[in-house]
Amino acid sequence: MKRITIAIDGYSSCGKSTMAKDLAKEIGYVYVDSGAMYRAVTLFAMREGLIRDGKIDEEALRKRLGDINISFKFNPTTQRPDTYLNGELVEEEIRSLPISSNVSPVAALPFVRKAMVEQQKKLGREGGIVMDGRDIGTTVFPNAELKIFVTASDEVRAQRRFDELKAKGDSCDFGEILRNVRERDYIDTHREASPLRKAADAVELDNSEMSIAEQKEWLLSQVKMRTGSL
Ligand code: DC
Repeated sequence: MKRITIAIDGYSSCGKSTMAKDLAKEIGYVYVDSGAMYRAVTLFAMREGLIRDGKIDEEALRKRLGDINISFKFNPTTQRPDTYLNGELVEEEIRSLPISSNVSPVAALPFVRKAMVEQQKKLGREGGIVMDGRDIGTTVFPNAELKIFVTASDEVRAQRRFDELKAKGDSCDFGEILRNVRERDYIDTHREASPLRKAADAVELDNSEMSIAEQKEWLLSQVKMRTGSL
């Protein structure tokens, strides 16, 4: 069977990662969460004191970029890849609210994007990959055989993030999460470097009212159309 490249883009918290991970597992492809890479850079910058009160020391971060090594390792228990920053498992920490609140400005920096996109292109050289993010179908893999653009309403997305954090035992406030979702949408769609937008040849999926099972069926039918089989 032909092993294609699948690019999944869309707004924050619309379930792209879960969808991409499950799809990759189902069809035996490699999954890469490109957002995790921007989150790991943000964690590094925060730990090193390169972000203070939301202000990024861009020059210092640019100089330290070479000290940031991001890798993924498949976790047999969760059946999903975990993110490592310089060899340290940071999967949990990069999903916390402080990182979510600081990641969009970091991801908007052109030198950060350039470095991450280079790594992402390398990871996808062989095909047989599902990558999710904001610019995968437009910048990272403009020739991907299947491009999906995912949307859902702001409230549905904030509720999903709220449930996720609550399940982990994090204390959180729905209003704050909704504000964070809207703020990230704004930064992601208005930044100069590779803003979030639907690629002309992407198929749109609004999953506000869809069950996981319906979504999975829809995704598999899209893959089947591109590969001729599963
Ligand atoms: O998908 P996520 O919420 O984990 O992404 C974290 C942030 O990184 C989000 O603000 C958008 C940004 N991002 C990006 O700019 N480009 C990508 N390919 C992936 C994520």
